[in-house]
Amino acid sequence: MNVAAISPERLSDLLRAMPKAELHMHIEGSLEPELIFALAKRNDVRLRYKSVEELRAAYAFTDLQSFLDIYYAGASVLQQPQDFYDMAWAYFQRAKTDNVVHAEIFFDPQTHTARQVSMRTVITGLHRACVDAQAQLGISSSLILCFLRHLSEEEAFDTLEEAWPFKDMFVGVGLDSSERGHPPEKFERVFKRAAQLGFKLVAHAGEEGPPAYIWSALDVLKVQRIDHGVQAIHDEALMARLAKERIPLTVCPLSNQKLCVFPNLADHNLGQMLDQGLCVMLNSDDPAYFGGYLNENFVQTFAALPLNASHAYQLACNSFEASFVPEAQKQVWRAQLDDCFQQFGA
Ligand code: HPA
Ligand code: ZN
Repeated sequence: MNVAAISPERLSDLLRAMPKAELHMHIEGSLEPELIFALAKRNDVRLRYKSVEELRAAYAFTDLQSFLDIYYAGASVLQQPQDFYDMAWAYFQRAKTDNVVHAEIFFDPQTHTARQVSMRTVITGLHRACVDAQAQLGISSSLILCFLRHLSEEEAFDTLEEAWPFKDMFVGVGLDSSERGHPPEKFERVFKRAAQLGFKLVAHAGEEGPPAYIWSALDVLKVQRIDHGVQAIHDEALMARLAKERIPLTVCPLSNQKLCVFPNLADHNLGQMLDQGLCVMLNSDDPAYFGGYLNENFVQTFAALPLNASHAYQLACNSFEASFVPEAQKQVWRAQLDDCFQQFGA
């Protein structure tokens, strides 16, 4: 589609209004401080922080690890299926206001099973929210089980086995947590097994880690998407491959800013990646911790970078292209996107 130029005010309305898919959002990262305190009360969990304000004030991160420490502590209030449901339902309601039509949602079961919360509790609570989101909000979604890469491959194998009885409730596996020092190769065999079992494969790579981790996520783990991947910019051959093969990168600008991957949003390489023809799209990663849900990522990133309505169209299209849904469904969303752009005269 040919996209016309529009004014900055109209552009920000268009960014908010356009239908979009979110493919990189950790559901535990959508846990707002208010809900953390409510669930702590419900489950009689003692928190290190005295108030919502004190907890929020601790959200000043210097790198990925400084965030992960607080993120795992926040997740400790989740104990019953209803807690997982409430967390996911709150996310879906926010997603609805951002005109998210489809979400592929990460969850970190090892964070919970390590505290004697069962795999059944985690997955059934989240899955029920996904079913209700479709029925009540018209948002389609699927779950992606992430292995924590700071733990061993053996523990990842155990997790996959524990999750197997719930295989119809998640579509893929991913790899998250501390990237540096934990290369994708560490999980070669468990990803091979997950592929044999029919799961889709994704992995965080090149968030803080080197381009070599993106190569090995592709060639050793054989993932279909790369989460983050912004460090690819330092490797010309890799950039050429990502563009040629249309390998999706699920980019998260506010996350990158908050974790000091880029000093400012204005330094982000999203525009370069789009202009080099990469299949990138925007995502919120851990919206409760990084200062914004998906539309906030769009609006702030477009305010900071020289991006226009044509880039917006490409980002939304890419989000549909990269999603794990049948082609016919992607066409329906692309038609909705075209309608929206037409309404805006873009
Ligand atoms: N990177 C790695 N692990 C994570 C992240 C992230 O951005 N968010 C939640 N777990
Ligand atoms: Zn992430």
